[in-house]
Amino acid sequence: MTRIRRGLLFMPGDDPHKIEKGAALDVDAVIMDLEDGVALNRKPAARAAAAAALRDVDFERSERLIRLNPVDSPFFEDDFLETVEAHPDGYVLPKVESARQVREVAARLLAAEARHGWQPGAICLLAIIETGRGVLNVREIAESDPRLDALIFGAEDLAGDIGATRTPEGWEVYYARSAVVIHAKTCGLQAIDTPFVNLTDFERLAQETRAALSMGFTGKLAIHPKQIDIIQRTFTPTPVEIQLARRLIDAHDAQQAGGSGVFELDGKMVDMPMVRAAQTILARAQAAGLNVE
Ligand code: COA
Ligand code: MG
Repeated sequence: MTRIRRGLLFMPGDDPHKIEKGAALDVDAVIMDLEDGVALNRKPAARAAAAAALRDVDFERSERLIRLNPVDSPFFEDDFLETVEAHPDGYVLPKVESARQVREVAARLLAAEARHGWQPGAICLLAIIETGRGVLNVREIAESDPRLDALIFGAEDLAGDIGATRTPEGWEVYYARSAVVIHAKTCGLQAIDTPFVNLTDFERLAQETRAALSMGFTGKLAIHPKQIDIIQRTFTPTPVEIQLARRLIDAHDAQQAGGSGVFELDGKMVDMPMVRAAQTILARAQAAGLNVE
């Protein structure tokens, strides 16, 4: 079963202090970055520090992910070779623009797994859609390889790529944000929303996270420890939501047994779409380790 990824915390791969700190924050996933969060002259240091952390740091329950540089960049080869030996749980691929790029990494992983006698397919992939070309090809990317677990939406790079200006409302990236979530969810993948880059406005972080949840996203990137709790809580159903979902499903089961597919509950019509929504809430609660009975 795919792991739960409500909050995923980024940290620069060349910063052992942040990596150690991130390892102890009870976040669903940490992403040690080798790409844009690392200066060009620090790439070798980042590869070494990330690989050392994979070997030596106790990440507790957190999934250990590495963000590589783009597959077709000159940094990719060394990023991959120097970290795969330390067996991360998965790789985050930035600026993905084609199925070929995902499959290339998947093939290299299969070879590495065979070389080490590791379980084939165990190291997963998450693809960031954050360029115009990535949005154009999001369908082939979503369908590219069974190793792919999630599509991630990246708003800042996309805006840069298409010449858009970021606004608080985010309409300039809304089409792409929707495309990512629709393709991911239709292809059985998780959908992870762009980070919120304002480090002091927690009110709007909460709003943006709720909006992502309502669109169908299953998680959101975080860039600072203080963002984790808001994000993970938002993607975790509350006891009241769980109770309401349970009640709706029980009422529906009773009505079905009585031969009726549509009925009224608390002044609202209930039929199959609402039942499915309630089932989704229970599935999310279960994935978060909550009791739904
Ligand atoms: N992961 C782990 N620890 C982090 C962290 C992160 N992303 N961001 C901050 N911290 C730690 C700091 O090291 C500091 O630890 P300390 O109190 O033990 O010294 C503490 O949390 C408070 O940090 P703060 O002083 O508020 O932030 P900062 O000025 O040190 O760092 C950023 C600000 C933006 C540089 C930092 O949050 C960061 O590196 N974020 C991730 C950036 C990234 O990876 N971007 C690429 C993907 S978009
Ligand atoms: Mg980026």
